Amino acid sequence: MEDVAPDALINKDDGRKYWDGVDADDNGMLGGLLKGGFSNLSRLDLQGSRTFLAKLGIGAKPPLRVVGAALEGGAGVGRVTNGLMVNVAKEVDIIEPTVKFTDAIEARDRVRTVFNVGLEEWKPRDETRYDLVWVQWCVGHLTDDQLVEFLKRCQSVLNAGGFIVLKENLSTSGVDLFDDLDSSVTRYVSSVSVPKRQIPSDRYVQGGEQVSGHLQECWPEDIQDGAAESISILAVPGANVGFDS
Ligand SMILES: C[S@@+](CC[C@H](N)C(=O)[O-])C[C@H]1O[C@@H](n2cnc3c(N)ncnc32)[C@H](O)[C@@H]1O
Repeated sequence: MEDVAPDALINKDDGRKYWDGVDADDNGMLGGLLKGGFSNLSRLDLQGSRTFLAKLGIGAKPPLRVVGAALEGGAGVGRVTNGLMVNVAKEVDIIEPTVKFTDAIEARDRVRTVFNVGLEEWKPRDETRYDLVWVQWCVGHLTDDQLVEFLKRCQSVLNAGGFIVLKENLSTSGVDLFDDLDSSVTRYVSSVSVPKRQIPSDRYVQGGEQVSGHLQECWPEDIQDGAAESISILAVPGANVGFDS
């Protein structure tokens, strides 16, 4: 039998159905791990993200800068919106297809527009530009082609000097893995060297020096079958993106 690419197994309706059945709270966003013995996971995640953004010169307090406008993809109930984005951007637009999750985000200070669509369906508004795009734990719901097209659309509305950041779990097993629980793919991305470890990158972007990749620091060793190295952050300086689709 011919091999089927894992991303060809992604079914949008199955994914949406899964998320419609998930509690609209931080624990739901983290797959139940907050109540499953990892109560500090969200805090660690957000702290790692803050540290990472600081390396890009972005943050809430001088000498770091608060950016003008940011776009957050797959925001869920606003865990990252509230814990990070609204502190580092004056205005935040949200993309999130699950309507029940965004009810709580809409009224939040600094949240501007909520797009209740998937990343693959989202189209930027003509006049809108962003300094930072943050996409966390949701691109597994997109096929490879959809992901590349989404990133290109982001790039087209990025201000000079802006960044696109993907924070995703990545497969450490050398292949992309399809999960039929939520109909998503965890991708393997071949490596670019960063201090001490190897982390993924060139599936999304070509050219080592154009990519900044970092592993989430202080992540529990025993989470998700010991896949401690599977959480990483990739930052893409907007002006230099090249796609290897
Ligand atoms: C693991 S949660 C992460 C939420 C948030 N980024 C966080 O870190 O707390 C995954 C989110 O992706 C959303 N999602 C599912 N399919 C999506 C798609 N095609 N495009 C964008 N987001 C999607 C789900 O509704 C859910 O809110």
